[in-house]
Amino acid sequence: MRINEDTLLEGKYVVLVPYNSDHVPRYHQWMGSPELQKLTASEPLTLEQEYDMQRSWREDDDKCTFIILDKQLWADPAVQEEECMVGDINIFLTDPSDPTLAELEIMIAEPNYRGKGIGKEVIRMMICYGVMKLGVRKFEAKIGLDNKISIALFKKFKFQEQSVSEVFQEMTLELTVDEDLQKWLLGDMSFMQEREYQKIRDSRQAACPPLTQ
Ligand SMILES: CC(C)(COP(=O)(O)OP(=O)(O)OC[C@H]1O[C@@H](n2cnc3c(N)ncnc32)[C@H](O)[C@@H]1OP(=O)(O)O)[C@@H](O)C(=O)NCCC(=O)NCCS
Repeated sequence: MRINEDTLLEGKYVVLVPYNSDHVPRYHQWMGSPELQKLTASEPLTLEQEYDMQRSWREDDDKCTFIILDKQLWADPAVQEEECMVGDINIFLTDPSDPTLAELEIMIAEPNYRGKGIGKEVIRMMICYGVMKLGVRKFEAKIGLDNKISIALFKKFKFQEQSVSEVFQEMTLELTVDEDLQKWLLGDMSFMQEREYQKIRDSRQAACPPLTQ
């Protein structure tokens, strides 16, 4: 999706930036992990396929993705953006006849960053973004039955169990965007600032230009 190609979302612990080709090598390295492949139900890709995937996430109208950065590291312009990457969050519009239905996926790829509240912050940011900017009215999450942490995370946001697939060993959870949810999650949006990504990226690079050989 091109809607977020110049969008940076800043929270308390994280900064979300659009997934671009500079992020692909690190992303590809993450997805080589059998643990992450299992937890995210993903197949391993070659580096070339990962670049194709990044282009598709950028260009296809049904996909919106952000890379999650460690805000504290990123605050130092001497630290390259790719070194601040900790995971990703996606919205996938699953039904072409209903653009208000979205699947939400999250991955905190760096184990050291798990269990610190980042998942909670990022899910809240992406629900708000999905509702406000993409017009999402219902979110779905498909989670492996043994991924108790992820199930607990989505239930914190009032996702309800909808169905269980014994074949795929996964559960589908749903969240309908009603008035109560809007008041609860969108009532105070001061926890997140939206800024222009390219301007900030340029100013970080100008402050600390990469070393040339
Ligand atoms: C699942 C995942 C997204 C959770 O993100 P996180 O940043 O680690 O989670 P948070 O620290 O925000 O914790 C959110 C909730 O998860 C639960 N949780 C987190 N760590 C936990 C642990 N070690 N044991 C039990 N529950 C845990 C708690 O309910 C917690 O809420 P609380 O702190 O208010 O009690 C992250 O661990 C991850 O990406 N893991 C690998 C990939 C994956 O499983 N992706 C999901 C595919 S569906």
